[in-house]
Amino acid sequence: MGEKKMWGGRFEGAMDPAMMAFSESIQVDQRLWAVDVRGSQAYAQVLTEAGILSAAENAALQAGLKQVAAEWEAGDFQLRPGDEDIHTANERRLGEIVGEAAGKLHTGRSRNDQVATDLRLWLRGEIDRLHGQLHRLVRVMLAQAETHIHLLMPGFTHLQVAQPIRFSHWLLSHAWPIQRDAARLTQIRSRVNVSPLGSGALAGNPFPIDRNRLGDLLGFDQITYNSVDGVSDRDFVAEFLFCASLSMVHLSQLAEDIIVFASQPYGFVSLDDAYSTGSSLMPQKKNPDSFELVRGKSGRTVGALMGLLTTLKGLPRAYNRDMQEDKEPLFDAVDTWSSALEIASGALLTMNCHGERMAAALHEHMLATDIAEYLVRRGVPFRDAHHVAGEAVKLAESSGQSLASLSPEAWSTLHEACDADIRGVFDMGASVESRDVPGATSLRAVREQLQLLKMRLGGPTAFCV
Ligand code: ARG
Repeated sequence: MGEKKMWGGRFEGAMDPAMMAFSESIQVDQRLWAVDVRGSQAYAQVLTEAGILSAAENAALQAGLKQVAAEWEAGDFQLRPGDEDIHTANERRLGEIVGEAAGKLHTGRSRNDQVATDLRLWLRGEIDRLHGQLHRLVRVMLAQAETHIHLLMPGFTHLQVAQPIRFSHWLLSHAWPIQRDAARLTQIRSRVNVSPLGSGALAGNPFPIDRNRLGDLLGFDQITYNSVDGVSDRDFVAEFLFCASLSMVHLSQLAEDIIVFASQPYGFVSLDDAYSTGSSLMPQKKNPDSFELVRGKSGRTVGALMGLLTTLKGLPRAYNRDMQEDKEPLFDAVDTWSSALEIASGALLTMNCHGERMAAALHEHMLATDIAEYLVRRGVPFRDAHHVAGEAVKLAESSGQSLASLSPEAWSTLHEACDADIRGVFDMGASVESRDVPGATSLRAVREQLQLLKMRLGGPTAFCV
């Protein structure tokens, strides 16, 4: 209190302390310090090129802004009670360092175009970092899939054993969605990387600044072409939160599978101690908390998306203070997604896979479809073949035998197209290998899939689905 507010000219009374606390966002938005400084450096430069600042003023501002950044970097930046947000804090400190010239920096600029610019710059950097993390997770999955390419396990539908598949095929079924998440981020990056700076409060900048040059200086691909939209638009935050939410849902589904597979009745995988925790009561316990937290934290990110959309829903055009509420959900989603990716990568990389437990879970009834397919290859219509295979399962169950040990007579009674060679059907490996079309689970098809996924990570094709 007692500090001069940057907008205080028309005010007589002081702000209520509770209102001040309610209004300030510095504790949240200070993480924008670097992009705020960078935006101001570029803005001072174009003001100078437009003849609004002298070369000497620009030099002083550039040096002062460098010092502001250095103080943040070193953890020496001292916040003051009047520092409402990162923009006012940086400007106040710049004034202390360079004096009068600092008061000219905001010429034609508003916090409305400043905050939109800062947020876009910041998010662009985070998108690039997250994109790298997503690709790392896919590479970890590729490595585990390659190492364990020969392991077979039950594939499930409705969480009931269905048909045998490769473990690598299951794992890669989680890698493709993560690869699409990375491609989706690349697509939204182009809509994030647009410069609203020069939109002013809402009506545009009254001085002849070169907005394209300003955008170039800040590494933006384009500038906005409607100043009202320029300060109103938070689509880029909503789109990002959707990408984060969908990806967290993908990670949550991966987590769910692993939690089930790591449980004792399955035992297909076990997590390294580094990614597990114990129970305070039951000494034997080793719990997959890493993946449980990944699954649980997806709720936060979906909540952030819902929260932002709700905040934006009733807003009239141009800047409204409600929009200050965009940052907490965005920052939380970035942090949550990033840490979930890091943990998922580490936990998968160190995960042990138990082929013998997977093999033990392969029940011959999972080959009932293969019996039907055997008959189809002998000209029996699939619907009839399906019925015969069902009868075979019923017969085996009621007579307490295994399918594989049913006699040739029993088979030929079930259907005359059944020969003695039907026993060849009861081979998990042969079943898996028979599924050899692109995208299927045979060794050849999975190797092809691995190559294609690697290409998606590497080349310009990383853009497509
Ligand atoms: N702290 C504000 C935000 O994050 C900055 C913009 C404030 N603009 C204004 N006219 N009050 O949205």
